[in-house]
Amino acid sequence: MKKKIALLLIAAMTISTLAACGNSAAEAPASTTEEAPAAEEAAPEEEAPAEEAAPAEEASTEEAAAPAADGELIRVGFAQVGHESDWRAANTKNYQDTFSEANGYELSFVDCDNDHAVQIETVRGFIEQELDYICIAPIQSAGWDTVLQEAQDAGIPVLIVDRAVDADPSLYTTALGCDMIAEGEAAGNWLAEYLNGEDANILVIEGSVGASATLGRTEGFNNIVAQNSNWTVLDSQSGDFTQAGGQEVMESFIKSYSDFNVVVCQNDNEAYGAMDAMDAAGITYGVDGDVTIISFDATHDGLQYTLDGKITCNVECNPLQAGFAEGVIQKLEAGEAVDAWTLVEDEAFVAPGIESQYAVTMSQEVLDGRAY
Ligand code: AHR
Repeated sequence: MKKKIALLLIAAMTISTLAACGNSAAEAPASTTEEAPAAEEAAPEEEAPAEEAAPAEEASTEEAAAPAADGELIRVGFAQVGHESDWRAANTKNYQDTFSEANGYELSFVDCDNDHAVQIETVRGFIEQELDYICIAPIQSAGWDTVLQEAQDAGIPVLIVDRAVDADPSLYTTALGCDMIAEGEAAGNWLAEYLNGEDANILVIEGSVGASATLGRTEGFNNIVAQNSNWTVLDSQSGDFTQAGGQEVMESFIKSYSDFNVVVCQNDNEAYGAMDAMDAAGITYGVDGDVTIISFDATHDGLQYTLDGKITCNVECNPLQAGFAEGVIQKLEAGEAVDAWTLVEDEAFVAPGIESQYAVTMSQEVLDGRAY
């Protein structure tokens, strides 16, 4: 992409960001909770969602459409978190399917293996290659200002996807993903409804340290804990969003605690590990067991366990987000302004036999209708 076009796009995105800063929460697009996006540090509530700004000048519209119109592939770099979970695998496949050559893209995909330093250097590599767009799924929310400034100086639009960063929003073009705080609150609200006043002694297996998915789900769930004086969070440790991590943390919890009745796993893979650990220790769980398991992601296997009554509540995080990123890129190609924030909506699911105002009751039909 020509530098001139990129600079015009940066101008358009700056207008968009300024519009976002002036917005009130009342103008926000619909959200499950009408609250701020995923990373609480990243975007204060009033700054988060945005109306579209004024479109870029007409001259930029014509020129910006050039790469696709010329039959050139649009070069997109994707600095992906890693391959820690089933959710991540579905998210990666979705990006690779969407940003295919057949669709007019050349995708540079890098699995950053959950290493923040590798992810920063990956983005620097994309800048050196002068790619047209950069998508970043941030491993952690902190530590992004310098490289985002470098991308902006190079005139390359940056899309922050899935998770959030706590950098100044003027340093990137747009952000999109699920509302992680809302997911945590959905889990807590469902638990309050389910327990109906019963005491809760809760163990939490968190996701990766410093990830906005972890920070948001923890904050959201704790918001509801604070409203229930007979709930106690006995312990909260990171399982790094992996099955092995979930198993290891649960084994250690089992050695330290005997009086828990709720285990919150911040993703499905951690839940699988936690179930393995409880199986080995002879602890029963699920709708017919002693321990209620809450999970996040609602991937296919996670929902199978929910249908089987092993995971009682599973809060979705929709991994099919590439279409939203492509929509942003197509708007920028057309010289149009883009929203500062796009919410990817999700819902929660509960085991058969449970009715909830916060969640869909699982059935084989629901599982069969899932795309991931
Ligand atoms: O950022 C989304 C989270 O990251 C998913 O919940 C988890 O499975 C993944 O690793």
